[in-house]
Amino acid sequence: MNELDSLVGAARADFDAAATAAALEDAKARYLGRAGRLTELMKGLAKLSPDEKKARGAAINAAKSQVESLLEARRRALADAELQAQLKAEALDVTLPGRSRGTGGLHPVSRTIERIEAIFGSMGFDVAEGPEIETDWMSFTALNNPENHPARSMQDTFYVDLKDAEGRWLNLRPHTSPMQVRYARAHAAKHAGQGSMPEIRVIAPGRTYRVDSDATHSPMFHQCEGLWIGENVSFKDLKVVFTSFVREFFETDDFDVRFRPSFFPFTEPSAEIDIAFRSGPLKGRWLEVAGSGQVHPNVVRNYGLDPEQHIGFAFGMGPDRLAMLRYGIDDLRLMFDGDLRFLTQFN
Ligand code: PHE
Repeated sequence: MNELDSLVGAARADFDAAATAAALEDAKARYLGRAGRLTELMKGLAKLSPDEKKARGAAINAAKSQVESLLEARRRALADAELQAQLKAEALDVTLPGRSRGTGGLHPVSRTIERIEAIFGSMGFDVAEGPEIETDWMSFTALNNPENHPARSMQDTFYVDLKDAEGRWLNLRPHTSPMQVRYARAHAAKHAGQGSMPEIRVIAPGRTYRVDSDATHSPMFHQCEGLWIGENVSFKDLKVVFTSFVREFFETDDFDVRFRPSFFPFTEPSAEIDIAFRSGPLKGRWLEVAGSGQVHPNVVRNYGLDPEQHIGFAFGMGPDRLAMLRYGIDDLRLMFDGDLRFLTQFN
């Protein structure tokens, strides 16, 4: 084997041994670089006679082009291998399920409120919403809850260290009852001077706040106020309306309702409304679902109406509680933790 053949063989072995592009470039320099073996041989040509130079030069050039094509082949092989490795590493498993954007769903309390609105809507009740940051007057005074009266402490209200533009203290409303006053006043104003006024029939669902927190109380919770005021609306109507609501809401006739005497400054007489199912897991247990009563004359006056002419009832119920009963949830806090494992069960 002549010297040039063994040089080409050595280059092939070196190139094959190079595992990376960088190692291959190093190997290339050993043959084709400025001090490389082929380059040195070329330099040696200078000492030869023209004839020798021609023959030797052609042989060296042939060896050089062999080395160059070996180098090129090895470069391609390394690039291929790299590409294959990358393809393998970044391979897509097209059999995996796609990642879609979640569509979301309604919170169980929102569903419950929608259900309440639909049922009362079918009985001719309007739906109203009002501010969660309320004035002291709306939350208490207008509701026959005199300033400094101990009954105010029935509700562990969040007082805010702020007054409104008219200097009235603000609070996070502890109940939706201020909506009775807001709605009735707007209704009275709208129909003022028309001789007769259409009945007020409204529900007002929304968020309410109290300093209260355990398995059955949350500092933020929901209430839904109901108000029906007319010329001759009585406790009997309340009983009919509320019982119909319970029947529709729970889709059963199999329950009893009782009105248990209670006290609220804004109603007289006042009653807690309890229901008990006659069958099912809650069979026989009295469950308090609402406070209610005939609207106190002082409150009707604060509606801007004459209590001699306008009479009716109000109630306030807890959609959170109703949702828990309907879905069989035993801890109120689950409702407001935002845990998707819980929430997605309702959609
Ligand atoms: N506002 C009362 C409460 O939060 C409930 C209620 C509303 C009672 C309307 C009577 C009439 O407990």
